[in-house]
Amino acid sequence: MIGRSEEYEKMFRLEGQLWWYRHLHERVGEALLHRFGENRDVTILDAGCGTGGLLSFLNQLGYTHLRGIDGSVDAVAYCHERKLPVSFVNLTGLADFEPTHMYDAIICNDVFCYFSNADLATLMMALTGRLKPGGILISNNNAFGAFRGEHDLAVGIIRRFVLSDFEPLLSQNGLNLLAYTYWSFSLSLPIVLVRQWQRIRLRLGWSKPGEAKSDVYLPVRWLNKLLLGIVRAEQKLLRRTPFGSSLFMVISR
Ligand SMILES: C[S@@+](CC[C@H](N)C(=O)[O-])C[C@H]1O[C@@H](n2cnc3c(N)ncnc32)[C@H](O)[C@@H]1O
Repeated sequence: MIGRSEEYEKMFRLEGQLWWYRHLHERVGEALLHRFGENRDVTILDAGCGTGGLLSFLNQLGYTHLRGIDGSVDAVAYCHERKLPVSFVNLTGLADFEPTHMYDAIICNDVFCYFSNADLATLMMALTGRLKPGGILISNNNAFGAFRGEHDLAVGIIRRFVLSDFEPLLSQNGLNLLAYTYWSFSLSLPIVLVRQWQRIRLRLGWSKPGEAKSDVYLPVRWLNKLLLGIVRAEQKLLRRTPFGSSLFMVISR
């Protein structure tokens, strides 16, 4: 992902509108509300914050003690355009970033997919080590290999997860899984079919890996609204679902 400037430009332009980002941001907002109630004084770090859409959303919700870090110069520049307090930091060196600062909540969405097993264990330790007592780590991650498709190639995703990938990491570090769900369950079938078709096309040479496109594009307005409505309804009606292209987790120390 790092270095693919066109992906950051799309993220910056669309994350406030695209159903998928909007719903992910709402899920994070709800997890914070669930943990901290109406307290907006909590300190929040978005680790691998991308172009800052989530930090802007949280700011609109009234959270002001916000901090972001990312290892992409493109991402940091877009965050600065939004006047967000974001620094250029490689997460492999998180221990050296403002080492005395601790946070009530650390968010790390769709970043673990760029880390090998050994590096992920170190990153999890570093992230959770920066939580204040009672703090939480919120993390959304790409899930299930069945959803691998052009998007993964376009943004350089090296792995997808299921919950059991995290269980040893949690137990080794004495962490508690407070909540989790896969999402979006209701849209799984069409997403799997599209991604499998993309894989067939790649295998047959009908499309080229170098020309793969990410899913970051805005569908027509009614479809964007419909998809947002479906994922919102799913979240309201079903607390936890067993399958989906993302795994959303809330973890405490
Ligand atoms: C798929 S984007 C997700 C961005 C944001 N968290 C979101 O949910 O929209 C992954 C982000 O992780 C950042 N990233 C990947 N590896 C990183 C590393 N080693 N250090 C810091 N940031 C990294 C990328 O620059 C990118 O902004």
